[in-house]
Amino acid sequence: MDHVNRVALIGTGAVGSSYAFALLNQGVADELVMIDVNKRKSEGDAMDLNHGLAFTPANKKIWFGNYEDCEDAALVVITAGVNQKPGETRLDLLEKNTAIYKTIVESVMASGFDGLFIVATNPVDILSYMTWEFSGLPAHRVIGSGTILDTARLRFKLSEYFGIDTRNVHAYIIGEHGDSELPVWSHANVAGRSVFDRVHDHPDQYNVKDLEGIFDLVKDAAYHIIERKGATHYGIAMGLVRLTKAILHNEHAVLTVSAYVHGQYAVDDLYIGVPAIVNREGIKEVIELDLDPNESEKFRESAALLKNTMDPVLH
Ligand code: 2OP
Repeated sequence: MDHVNRVALIGTGAVGSSYAFALLNQGVADELVMIDVNKRKSEGDAMDLNHGLAFTPANKKIWFGNYEDCEDAALVVITAGVNQKPGETRLDLLEKNTAIYKTIVESVMASGFDGLFIVATNPVDILSYMTWEFSGLPAHRVIGSGTILDTARLRFKLSEYFGIDTRNVHAYIIGEHGDSELPVWSHANVAGRSVFDRVHDHPDQYNVKDLEGIFDLVKDAAYHIIERKGATHYGIAMGLVRLTKAILHNEHAVLTVSAYVHGQYAVDDLYIGVPAIVNREGIKEVIELDLDPNESEKFRESAALLKNTMDPVLH
């Protein structure tokens, strides 16, 4: 693909504008066009961000535009849609956001767009599937943010617990980006040691039982933030920039994203959070971890929940 590094952002609410801000600050992408039903807001964001260009690592072109500007985009990132009110689950948002996505994806495709989609709106796994369906693009060119943020949250909590830099903590959350997700403890490692070995090495400081409590905090993190400030946006925005960078820089990075699975993990025809190799072409490969029997069962339960929730909307 010989696209310029243009990113088209659809939806400039809290997540979209935080994404734009993080993208600029990290010097990712050459061009950013912002599109929103609330034109005044999106225009104001473009003006505001342009005023900060003098302070960013590399020059950029940023403007407020419309769907025609997607034609030359390498990447369309969708953050538009309604978000959870306190007490609502991500799956509660499905019907409203599917309708919004139909209009958005069809309008993007009508521009002649031939790049990749990143989907961030909840329920992200199902909306990734819908984007794939509505766009008619190959499945590897539609990527959901999936459990990228949950994985980052887990690494942060483990880093706090063990007193080790987050970047030296490796652990994945897979499954639905939502209440049925699961941690892959069987492959978690801290500074090169399995998480269980690390605990056993220091029985006076650590206890395996604490790991479940850590996971609960990760799983419920969005609820805890929404209770306090009404929405989550910085963490997911930074995760989306990480994903954007992996794509535009052809990194072949392994990230837990919502990818199309077709037989892996004994699951078929579904978008769900899994570790995957991400490059300029999209999903290069879904990594199939050797899960323990308990993790396999939980993953399949999460997949079944997504399928059951999605089926009535699909047919
Ligand atoms: C989050 O996990 C709400 O999905 C959003 O922060």
